[in-house]
Amino acid sequence: MTDSGIASNDSSPCQKTRNEMYFLHYAAIVGLIVVLITKYKYEICQKISQKVIESNTLPKVELVVGVLSARDHFEARQAIRDTWMRSIMENAHLSNRIQVQFVVGETGCDIHPDSRISKYGCEKWIVSIPDQTDDVNMVQVQEDSNYSSLMMVDKISFMVRHPVVINKLGLLASISLEHGPVHVLLHDDYREENITEVKFSAQNEGVVDRGYRYMSVQPFLLPKDFEGTIRIIYHDSTEILTAESNGGQHSSTMSDLGGIITVQKHRNPKKERKLFLPSFTMSILEKEQLSTYVKKEISLAQEWTLKEKKIAEDLQREMEMFGDILLVNVTDVYRNLPTKLLYFHQRIFSSFKADFVLKTDDDCFIDLEQIYSFLQKNKEIQNSKLWWGSFRDDWYVEHYGKWAEREYFSSVYPRFACGSGNVVSRDLHHWIAQNYQHLKTYQGEDVSLGIWLAAIGPTFLHDTLWKCDRSCESNMYSIPELLPIELRAMWKNRQTCGNPCSCL
Ligand SMILES: *[C@@H]1O[C@H](CO)[C@@H](O)[C@H](O)[C@H]1NC(C)=O
Ligand SMILES: *[C@@H]1O[C@H](CO)[C@@H](O)[C@H](O)[C@H]1NC(C)=O
Ligand SMILES: *[C@@H]1O[C@H](CO)[C@@H](O)[C@H](O)[C@H]1NC(C)=O
Repeated sequence: MTDSGIASNDSSPCQKTRNEMYFLHYAAIVGLIVVLITKYKYEICQKISQKVIESNTLPKVELVVGVLSARDHFEARQAIRDTWMRSIMENAHLSNRIQVQFVVGETGCDIHPDSRISKYGCEKWIVSIPDQTDDVNMVQVQEDSNYSSLMMVDKISFMVRHPVVINKLGLLASISLEHGPVHVLLHDDYREENITEVKFSAQNEGVVDRGYRYMSVQPFLLPKDFEGTIRIIYHDSTEILTAESNGGQHSSTMSDLGGIITVQKHRNPKKERKLFLPSFTMSILEKEQLSTYVKKEISLAQEWTLKEKKIAEDLQREMEMFGDILLVNVTDVYRNLPTKLLYFHQRIFSSFKADFVLKTDDDCFIDLEQIYSFLQKNKEIQNSKLWWGSFRDDWYVEHYGKWAEREYFSSVYPRFACGSGNVVSRDLHHWIAQNYQHLKTYQGEDVSLGIWLAAIGPTFLHDTLWKCDRSCESNMYSIPELLPIELRAMWKNRQTCGNPCSCL
């Protein structure tokens, strides 16, 4: 059909030119498309090759050492610079093969240490002096005819922020004692021991006061940072609960003594009304100190602001002078150490091609030459998921105190290396760096690394020459918990007679 149509128009003298014009238009459009596609391909190609070039131009380093360090540990850092770090810097052969960086938090905690809830974190302790400070009923019953369901709470866990004395233990008065005695006891959660206990029974009902019956205990001092639980022990819960739900129209409120104690929040998604079955009374101790503290709080804060400013300035100067500090975006407190470790890996990953990465702390002695020579002799382990250190097995998870673990619910941790020093090979380092935004942090950086790496099954190279405690050994790789002066003495020994422990 088309053929015959064109043929019929062949008679026109301009038809041929017109066809040529159409063809050229068509060709131009196709040409343009081809040009655009090629240009796009070229750009993509350029981008990819740029990336390849970028990653290829990262400096190659055989060992990166990260020294986790607190902002104000100026002396500790200088002691390291003057000792084991210097030996690398002064050795032309090693200085471009090994990189040592202090890993420091970008911001300090802006709350005065006395005003923090815990010295390991950066949360403000908000406190005021309550109207009543002696023999305060910590739990009170109130009328409450709300229809939402009622949650019976048979234990109260709390932390002490300022010393108190516990005077009495109590029990909800509407609980019947006809079915048998009910015990109320105070437990020290950190030491895992029962401190004191009372027994309410039909024969000994205690003294009722505002909805609870009370019995005196020998006054027991609970120091700052005490963590404990008050609970009731009874034979048959159904009897107690039935007795109470018949009682009906009230719930409990709990005092925090103006911030003197912190009550552990119960998981209560439905915001149910609560009825505490146990109660207790407390008196605040050292009231003078407390009121002095409350009066001083503002001036302490001002003092701290100045101190923080000075630390920031000194740190800035130190960074400019030595260029060996890596600032990472965390508030520089103990609880953030796992995040610090993650950021360290991520930053090293984007700045170096590192074969091995060693983590240590700023109070440790490290024998870099020995460590380096081991890695040199064993180059094949570079990509073998190597984790080299001294490992802890079946380490009991502490749920209270400094190492309190609130997020890892097992009773023991997976295998982890002691913090004085441990090395991961390039593949593990890459994996950590690439997942740094997804990895959940736990109580400390060493156990966190153990939990993270458990997922990908590292190859453990266990060597007790990475010391976990202060027991010195002449050919050790690392040792922890040294004062700057001790580190210097150790280094002097090593330089003098080859044995860091002693030259006698
Ligand atoms: C009852 O519930 C309301 C709304 O949830 C609340 O504002 C009120 O305080 C409750 N009453 C008592 C006595 O708790
Ligand atoms: C504390 O007392 C309770 C109840 O009497 C008992 O079950 C528990 O084993 C005791 N705990 C310790 C550590 O003695
Ligand atoms: C640093 O961390 C804070 C809080 O985690 C975040 O809001 C901020 O954007 C971070 N800053 C940089 C430069 O990454």
